Amino acid sequence: MHWVNVAVMLVMITSGWGIYDDDVIVRGFHFSPFWRLGDWAAWSLNWHFAGMWFLVINGLFYLGYGFATGRFREKLLPIRPAEIVRTVVDTLHLKIAHEDITVYNAVQKLLYIIVILAGIAQVVTGIAIWKPVQFSGLVSLLGGFQTARVLHFAGMTVIVGFLIIHVTLALFVPKTLWAMLTGGPKLKPRTRVEGGHAT
Ligand code: HEM
Repeated sequence: MHWVNVAVMLVMITSGWGIYDDDVIVRGFHFSPFWRLGDWAAWSLNWHFAGMWFLVINGLFYLGYGFATGRFREKLLPIRPAEIVRTVVDTLHLKIAHEDITVYNAVQKLLYIIVILAGIAQVVTGIAIWKPVQFSGLVSLLGGFQTARVLHFAGMTVIVGFLIIHVTLALFVPKTLWAMLTGGPKLKPRTRVEGGHAT
């Protein structure tokens, strides 16, 4: 699901840039044709609408799996502020201890939660600007069509910002990349601690 999402996100981002370029939000700011998927806005929209089905279906499976198996709770929580500060300071000193790649540090947990929420926000704002008549209530809730559009663009910026940090850090610890390709190391059977006794 991670790698399907990578492919689909690249389609959504680069086709989004093609759509943006037809009617820019920031005057004078364009994406170079090299980074735009689709020769012109209509083609970019076709890519965008094709990609959205894969994004939503894959995303629903991912969220369903994460909640149903308890993976989200187990891997992304809890997040302790003191741990975030310590991890940021360590990373700035290029101390990226990552012995056990199956356990995320506090910054990873926070960034993963942010990007999952940004993905969901993209679907919500995307639906609003795709069908603004049918979903007029949602459009009003988001502050009108143009605001929904700007929010959609802002969501893309958050996701691209995440990607830059995420890919850079993964390259620093290449064994994480390998684990993401192979499915990771074999885990010992999980132990549950109940009333102080491991079961
Ligand atoms: C179900 C998911 C999505 C739907 C239904 C959707 C729908 C749309 C629509 C209808 C537009 C055209 C807006 C207009 O006419 O002005 C658009 C633009 C755009 N989309 Fe999406 N989108 C989705 C997901 C995403 C994702 C995941 C990204 C990137 C991470 C993204 C990035 C963009 C960008 C950058 C634009 C151009 C913004 C603008 O200038 O209007 N979209 N999207």
